[in-house]
Amino acid sequence: MEEHVHHEREVTRGLEGVCAAETRISYVDGVNGQLYYSGYNIHDLAERVSFAEAVYLLWHDRLPTAKELAEFRSQVTATMRLPAQVIKAIELTPPSSHPMDVLRSSVSILGMFDPDAQDNGEAANRRKATRLLAEIPTIVAALHRVRKHEPVLSPDPHLDIAANFLYMLHGRAPDEPAARAMDLLLLLHADHGLNASTFAARVAASTEADMHSALTAAVGTLKGRLHGGANERVIEMLFGIGGVEMVQDYIHGMLAEGHKIMGFGHRVYKTEDPRATHLRRTSETLCQRAGQEHLYEISHRIEQTVKAAKGIYPNVDFYSATVQHALGIPKEFFTSVFAASRAAGWIAHILEQYGDNRLIRPTSKYVGQYGRELVPLAERG
Ligand SMILES: CC(C)(COP(=O)(O)OP(=O)(O)OC[C@H]1O[C@@H](n2cnc3c(N)ncnc32)[C@H](O)[C@@H]1OP(=O)(O)O)[C@@H](O)C(=O)NCCC(=O)NCCS
Repeated sequence: MEEHVHHEREVTRGLEGVCAAETRISYVDGVNGQLYYSGYNIHDLAERVSFAEAVYLLWHDRLPTAKELAEFRSQVTATMRLPAQVIKAIELTPPSSHPMDVLRSSVSILGMFDPDAQDNGEAANRRKATRLLAEIPTIVAALHRVRKHEPVLSPDPHLDIAANFLYMLHGRAPDEPAARAMDLLLLLHADHGLNASTFAARVAASTEADMHSALTAAVGTLKGRLHGGANERVIEMLFGIGGVEMVQDYIHGMLAEGHKIMGFGHRVYKTEDPRATHLRRTSETLCQRAGQEHLYEISHRIEQTVKAAKGIYPNVDFYSATVQHALGIPKEFFTSVFAASRAAGWIAHILEQYGDNRLIRPTSKYVGQYGRELVPLAERG
């Protein structure tokens, strides 16, 4: 019998608490329920800086001057238009495919058409960063138009990222409150420490794969219902429950059967997710405006019921569902809107990883067998 020595330490399931990278980009203080983008508390940024300013901050570790912001905004708007081949590819996707599948594949296709496709240098990566940030919302909006058999719209150079997205989605520019809510939603989803999709992006980048490959990995990772896919399930739950008076029974029934309530709980936050504080407020305002007060009321009752029953709090996905719904975004697009925002953070982390890279390659604890006897193919029964 062969002797085998295991050098591996104990497995940390789900890598909980494992510190895998240094970062200057964002910090999630789970104990105190605080989130910082490059040192700025999210409560100070929300409603005081735009999404574009926050992206600049995440990419440069400082807020832009007015001139830098204007330049950045015009660079983004100038690159929002998609290559014709990518629109064609979107048109060819099966109507039954999920928007996250289309987004994942479109980001991958974009990589082949990128003018800097063969260049993985710092300057080229900065150019790719701006293009990707600009192109992702356009992919989401274009897919929606294609699915509705309506013409794909080009971006309006006078609108910022958030308003442009709603314009390209609906075919009309949003009013001021809608544009502001959209911008806030994008700002609040932009980065969040070493979450699963950001980790996936950093792992891909650590192999010195190109930025589009890393973003493709990130989009695929965000899709799952334990991560960005939760917001879509939240709106399904709200419609499934139907009325405030049904909430208690529904939630207690789900918990009794051992189901998780989508939009609740978090690996890091043990108290209220600070992003939920802002989204709850925005959800209330937008639901009122859209005549959807009942959805806000059901959400609020769910929050109270889950807190009382399990002591867990809503995460970013819970109130973002009603905000997106009130903005007229179809539910199957919710996670791709999350991706359009989180692209900012993914890119920041990819650039940071490239800047001080070491291959990310953990180990595993082998729990299989040893010394098995090989039976030739012809003799296997
Ligand atoms: C986010 C999430 C994946 C974190 O997972 P995690 O850190 O591995 O935590 P666990 O799944 O081990 O949960 C710890 C405990 O809280 C409970 N819990 C966590 N989230 C819950 C939820 N949404 N509904 C009900 N119970 C939940 C678990 O059942 C577990 O209870 P137990 O110790 O009695 O078994 C998890 O909270 C979840 O699945 N939430 C729903 C999906 C969601 O909203 N995802 C978006 C995240 S931003």
